[in-house]
Amino acid sequence: MILPIYLYGHPVLRKVTKDISPDYPGLKPLLDNMFETLFYADGVGLAAPQIGLEDRILVVDLSPLADKEPSFKDFRRVFINAHIVERDGTEEAMEEGCLSIPGIHEKVYRKNRIRIRYLDENLHPHEEVFESYKARVIQHEYDHLEGIMFVDHISGIRKQMIRSRLDKIIKGDVRCSYKVKSR
Ligand code: NI
Repeated sequence: MILPIYLYGHPVLRKVTKDISPDYPGLKPLLDNMFETLFYADGVGLAAPQIGLEDRILVVDLSPLADKEPSFKDFRRVFINAHIVERDGTEEAMEEGCLSIPGIHEKVYRKNRIRIRYLDENLHPHEEVFESYKARVIQHEYDHLEGIMFVDHISGIRKQMIRSRLDKIIKGDVRCSYKVKSR
C-alpha cells in the first residue's frame, strides 16, 4: 500500500522517534508499505516520521541507482532501532533532496563514514560501517529519526533564500507526483 508522505511543517517530522519493541504489531506489512511508498515516490530512503510514525525505523533502497553504480543493485535495507555510534572520515558536500521537501535541493556537508547499530527486518542485531553515498543516505534518513531535516544543515543565508518555498510546502501548496500530507 502506498502511504502519503508527510510534508515539511508537519509536527511529526520534528519528533525524536522511539525504539520499537519486539512485539511491534504489523512490522512486516509496514516495511512492505514503506518500500512501496519509497519506490513510487522515486526516492532512495524513507524514515517512519515521513509516514507519520514516531518509531525508530528507516528503509533505504539504492537499487534504482544500479545503472550508475552496480554495487547498489542489491542494496535494499531496513534499519530498526538504529543508532549511529560513530561518524568519522572526511566531511563531504553533496546536493540533497527530501521527499518531505519536494522541489528543494541544497548542498549538505556530512562525514563520509559512519558506524551504526540496528536491527534488520528479522530483528537480528547488527553493527556495520557504511561509507560515501550509503553513509550519506543513511545519515539523511537517520536525521529524520531525530526530528532533523536536511535544510537544518544549510547556512542561514541559503535558508533565507528558500524560505518562501518552504512556507509554500508548509501550506501544502506543492505539486508532487506522489501522495503527500501537509500539516
Ligand atoms: Ni528526507
